[in-house]
Amino acid sequence: MKLFQTLVLLALASSCAFASDPSPLQDFCFAVNDLNSVMFVNGKFCKDPKLAIADDFFFSKFRYPGNTSNLLSSKVTIAFVDQFPGLNTLSIAMARLDFAPYGLNPPHIHHRDIEMLVVMEGTLHVGFVTSNQLNNTLFTKVLSKGDVFVFPQGLIHYQLNIGQTTALAFAFLSSQNPRLITIANTVFGSKPPINVDVLTKALQVDDNLINYLQEQKWFENH
Ligand SMILES: *[C@@H]1O[C@H](CO)[C@@H](O)[C@H](O)[C@H]1NC(C)=O
Ligand SMILES: *[C@@H]1O[C@H](CO)[C@@H](O)[C@H](O)[C@H]1NC(C)=O
Repeated sequence: MKLFQTLVLLALASSCAFASDPSPLQDFCFAVNDLNSVMFVNGKFCKDPKLAIADDFFFSKFRYPGNTSNLLSSKVTIAFVDQFPGLNTLSIAMARLDFAPYGLNPPHIHHRDIEMLVVMEGTLHVGFVTSNQLNNTLFTKVLSKGDVFVFPQGLIHYQLNIGQTTALAFAFLSSQNPRLITIANTVFGSKPPINVDVLTKALQVDDNLINYLQEQKWFENH
């Protein structure tokens, strides 16, 4: 009976969801990808911290502009834990956002992350939409060089370059491994496709339009 009670307590404790990455138990935990291991950890294995070097905490891929020659005229270069293993357990990540004139980072969600965006060059129209509890209200702003905007966690948001020049921004995200749900790509580009009857009813349009949308190439700019 004792054992059973302990198991129930353990089950309850482990079902408490973390709103962000758990706080680290040590200074850092440089991530190691051990593909041969049969064990699964929620995160990454750590390199022995005594073997750490300065380069473990260094990332240089933001030196180079992203290639914006694509359907969206934008490119997001990410520094998440997979690209920057030093972030492991540190609850932070970054992205460099490059925009050609009128380039768009399309409506998307990071369901585990708050995002702060700072504009370095150009002019961006940005926005997010609240949940149903706040009546799906749209908040928008035009940002110039030096301006900062925060996108609350889990809400649909986007950035559009409204200038005739290129634009550059950096984003900070509040987990080591932000996940990206791009609305159009997930709704119309899922594999296999979502049943047309679901989408015609949900979006109140006819099946020709859904078929058309499901046949499009949904470019991923990350
Ligand atoms: C940018 O991407 C386009 C389309 O994929 C490609 O044709 C072009 O060579 C790339 N440019 C550079 C500088 O990599
Ligand atoms: C949302 O809309 C309802 C109905 O119009 C209204 O009563 C409520 O005050 C609104 N809530 C907010 C947060 O705007």
